[in-house]
Amino acid sequence: MININDKIVIRGMKKSDLEEALKLWRISFNVGFSTKFDTKEILIKYLDRNPELSSIACTKNDKIVGALMCGHDGRRGSIYHTSVYNEYRNKGIGRMMEQRSLEELKKIGINTGFLFVNVNNPGSKKFWQSIGWSVISDIKYLYKEF
Ligand SMILES: CC(C)(COP(=O)(O)OP(=O)(O)OC[C@H]1O[C@@H](n2cnc3c(N)ncnc32)[C@H](O)[C@@H]1OP(=O)(O)O)[C@@H](O)C(=O)NCCC(=O)NCCS
Repeated sequence: MININDKIVIRGMKKSDLEEALKLWRISFNVGFSTKFDTKEILIKYLDRNPELSSIACTKNDKIVGALMCGHDGRRGSIYHTSVYNEYRNKGIGRMMEQRSLEELKKIGINTGFLFVNVNNPGSKKFWQSIGWSVISDIKYLYKEF
């Protein structure tokens, strides 16, 4: 558990956090958030498969202000749905959630990771670059439904 200024706590995400995390993601990502793909049931399976890796930022009375999903495929870590409520941004919360999740990945021997940013959101790319992530410009993301 990490404390920021004695007001915000960064801790592992629990299944009971998912309702509030989903609210935050729907507000943050709007049309970029798939309610078909990201149901509570699917996210419960994700947390079961990736214990301790996802992070939550909350106030001392457990009001959720930030959330980040993290998992791995046995080789690489992956990060999704990093979001902080508007009024809590630029206080280091995104950075601290990322740090916590990467520490948990390191504990299980995973030292590299990837994530996706929406090119229509230049702020998020700058955020990730500020905290040490590099853009790989010669790779395209492919997708298939089956
Ligand atoms: C992106 C987001 C998660 C950042 O969270 P945050 O708690 O405000 O970020 P932090 O305060 O930890 O910032 C860490 C660093 O990133 C930089 N940064 C954060 N947001 C930035 C922005 N919009 N533009 C440029 N730099 C930014 C900060 O200046 C800081 O750098 P510094 O230490 O050199 O000063 C938050 O703005 C957010 O929820 N945005 C909407 C959802 C979103 O786009 N998520 C990313 C999906 S890929």
